[in-house]
Amino acid sequence: MPTLLELVSDNGALSEDDVAHLSALISEWGMLADFSFADLLLYVPVATASGTNWLTASQVRAATGQTLYQSDLVGEYADDTDRPFIAAAAQSGQVQKGTITLPYLTDPVNMTAIPVLREGRVIAVLTREVSTVSGRRPGQLERTYLSIFDDFATMTATGLFPFTGRVADSSVAPRVGDGVIVLDGSARVRYASPNAVSALHRIGVRANAVGQSLAELGFAHDAARASFERREPVVEELDQDHDVTLMVRSIPILKRGARAINVIGGVVLMRDVSELRRRDRLILTKDATIKEIHHRVKNNLQTISSLLRLQGRRLSSEEAKDAIADSVRRIRTIALVHETLSREPGEDVAFVEIVRPLIQLSQESLQSNDRPVRFEVRGDGGRLPATIATPLSVVILELLQNVVDHAFGDQRRDGVVRVFLARDAQDDALHIRVIDNGAGVAAEFDIARATGLGLSIVRTLVTTELGGTISMRRAGERDLQEAGFDDGHPHMGTVVDLRIPTD
Ligand SMILES: Nc1ncnc2c1ncn2[C@@H]1O[C@H](COP(=O)(O)OP(=O)(O)O)[C@@H](O)[C@H]1O
Ligand SMILES: [Mg+2]
Repeated sequence: MPTLLELVSDNGALSEDDVAHLSALISEWGMLADFSFADLLLYVPVATASGTNWLTASQVRAATGQTLYQSDLVGEYADDTDRPFIAAAAQSGQVQKGTITLPYLTDPVNMTAIPVLREGRVIAVLTREVSTVSGRRPGQLERTYLSIFDDFATMTATGLFPFTGRVADSSVAPRVGDGVIVLDGSARVRYASPNAVSALHRIGVRANAVGQSLAELGFAHDAARASFERREPVVEELDQDHDVTLMVRSIPILKRGARAINVIGGVVLMRDVSELRRRDRLILTKDATIKEIHHRVKNNLQTISSLLRLQGRRLSSEEAKDAIADSVRRIRTIALVHETLSREPGEDVAFVEIVRPLIQLSQESLQSNDRPVRFEVRGDGGRLPATIATPLSVVILELLQNVVDHAFGDQRRDGVVRVFLARDAQDDALHIRVIDNGAGVAAEFDIARATGLGLSIVRTLVTTELGGTISMRRAGERDLQEAGFDDGHPHMGTVVDLRIPTD
């Protein structure tokens, strides 16, 4: 949707660069409203049959004062009370001050109309409107802030504000209410607001700040001096010690002289972002800790599997050797998931990244005099949390291992096993099909009644641990065709289907 500013520019009154200038102003003017304790309205000219009319393009309320306008004025035209001031500001290029009356307020309203100058032309008018009997009693803070607002008003009217260039990240940027230091023309502190004094205390600055430069106060970097030199705002984050982080935004106050633009002072807004940064750091270290734990678990599991392997070598019974070898593979499978988790950010893994090394594991168990078996993966199955990936990996390993152990016992041709991974479009459940073109299970095979340790593990993990379903049967002609086994040989094979919910 186009903004009001863009609509107005479509009208021909404002150029693209004008709109950019006003957008920059709007992104900064919360600060102006806060310094002025008042509502600010931005009026743009719109040509009508009866002359120029002024349309409210944007509105901002002060966080430091009361609003005059409960309603949103954007999209409304200036009325008879405002128009003379706005027109005068636009015509003269000078800031206009006066008093107006609003229909629904008994007390008069002080109005300041500030022309917004860009490249020697008034492109809009900014107004500040505040009740003459508004709540804040004028103390030093009020007087100081209002004079700063006047400085920025002059800068706006002479084309020096808003600053061109990158706009500060407004979500964390310090605001007036967070703490303000006012600087004189030589970047020395002229005034520090109570919140700024508290922030300074927190970083260990107890001396009276007035008259000192930020460097003299103990700041590692003098953001103020940098902003004075560059004539533009400078944002800096200060880690004075390990506990306190201050975000500092220094904005120079400029004045057009006869020949040059001079820096006549500045404001430094400061915000204590320690809590924010502490949380950032905590999240980072928590993530690193989890990774480290996965890494250690992996190492421990590898140690256990090595010990078992050593034990297995000392056995003479083939059956016992096989049993140990199976256990070693299962442990290495779990270690593999932890290894993947120790590398990936967060607590989930791309499952296909685990399936490939699982295939490697099964392939290693092929005896050198066995015929080769080709393993292939299709699809990827997306990311899975560790709680699902770990048991599921053990399941896949058992299925692949069974292909190696039983599918191609005395066949003369090369075997193929394909693993298909897919997520259900409806409920995001994971579908896995493992299909081989080997000897096939018996026609009356029923996994519910299988008694081998491998399939018992598979059944238990899938139904109890993962809450899924499993079917295992002899592959039919159609299954093999679907899986792409069209090598002209008489077809047999086994097909296993898993459905694993992921929520
Ligand atoms: N892909 C397969 N092809 C042929 N037979 C299989 C396949 N998978 C499992 N079987 C049969 O199911 C039986 C049970 O397997 P399992 O429970 O893993 O025990 P084990 O592998 O120790 O024999 C196997 O002995 C085998 O007869
Ligand atoms: Mg087995």
